Amino acid sequence: MNSRFPDGFLWGASTSSHQVEGGNRWNDWWELEQSGRLPHRSGEACRHYELYESDFDLARSLGHNAHRLSIEWSRIETKPGEWNEEALEHYAAVIAALRKRQIEPVVTLHHFTNPAWFAHRGGWLQDDSPDLFARYVDVVAARLAPNVRFWLTINEPTVFVKHAYVTCDWPPCGGRSWRHAVTALRNLCRAHAVAYDVLHRYRTDSMVGIAHSAPYVTACNPQSPLDRLAARTRDFVLNDLVFRLFGRPAHEVLDYIGINYYARQIVRWGSTPFKAMLFGSECKADHHESPRRFTSMGWEIHAPGLARVLKRLSRLGLPLIVTENGIATTDETARTQYLEDHLATLAQSVRDGVPVIGYLYWTLMDNYEWAKGFDAKFGLAAVDFTTQERRPRPAAQAFRELIDR
Ligand code: FCB
Repeated sequence: MNSRFPDGFLWGASTSSHQVEGGNRWNDWWELEQSGRLPHRSGEACRHYELYESDFDLARSLGHNAHRLSIEWSRIETKPGEWNEEALEHYAAVIAALRKRQIEPVVTLHHFTNPAWFAHRGGWLQDDSPDLFARYVDVVAARLAPNVRFWLTINEPTVFVKHAYVTCDWPPCGGRSWRHAVTALRNLCRAHAVAYDVLHRYRTDSMVGIAHSAPYVTACNPQSPLDRLAARTRDFVLNDLVFRLFGRPAHEVLDYIGINYYARQIVRWGSTPFKAMLFGSECKADHHESPRRFTSMGWEIHAPGLARVLKRLSRLGLPLIVTENGIATTDETARTQYLEDHLATLAQSVRDGVPVIGYLYWTLMDNYEWAKGFDAKFGLAAVDFTTQERRPRPAAQAFRELIDR
């Protein structure tokens, strides 16, 4: 790969608290996992809450100079307005451990889980949810801002509201409601905007973004006006809408955009009018372009789509960091190929002048993949969940070599 990545380019992996820490018993996920309303329990996960030092040694040994992690709100504020000093100390030590290894922390403040008390009050449907979030962000920033420059306020607002209020396979696991989805999305975006101001109060050079789930959406039959319409609407809802809901222009509330890119979605006009208008339906096996390849999550592998979404989102005039990109598979050749293809695409985007300043692979090690449990193998390292041993996979080495080059 012949490329010139800018100096200081961030290379590393991403994680999130509930997926790796273990014992996150104060959040809404844990509660529903215990009650059996979610199919899998996170339990001890990767015990990263205790093992973070050796996990960061692993990241360093793989050549990473950046690492994305999330702060677990429910540990910091176990009850409304009560701040857990031990948890704050813990995260300060985690950040220090990264700094000690010359690894730049990229810190997410909300990655799908909510404190149980917040969920009981109505979660992101409450009018004061943005203020409650801002209060927590203030406490975290007061402690961590001296050592953290890169923040992500909210991970994937659109994915969160889809699972929480449309497909209902994530907490609160209630009934489907489009009205709730819209309310929650609006509150998440407002929460981002207030958190943006809080973070900049602590540090004027803060880099604050959201992690945006950015699929590459395209029409099944490009000759069909209805397919094109379905693709356009879906693309608008998934890739545009969020940037219009902050209450202020995007460039006033974002210093960069985090791009989570996994897949292409080929869509055709849907089977029911409402779905047809909003999202169309996905063509999978029945599409003429073949062979198409899918991961064990059923997501289509399509490296060129990364360049398409980077280009599309660069129109907002902000720097971009790929904050997630990765493959769930047990085929190690496919994993290495995936990484190489996506990094080649990334290099081309950089050469084309797209302002990308980092790439963080999802994920450092196998972990709790939400409602899919522990079977989805996304890790650069495999984890033996009985012994907690981490074993780097061939792709981890390939990634290291690409970084070195
Ligand atoms: C993203 C999530 C992340 C992980 C990957 C596979 O949507 O942000 O936590 O589950 O998908």
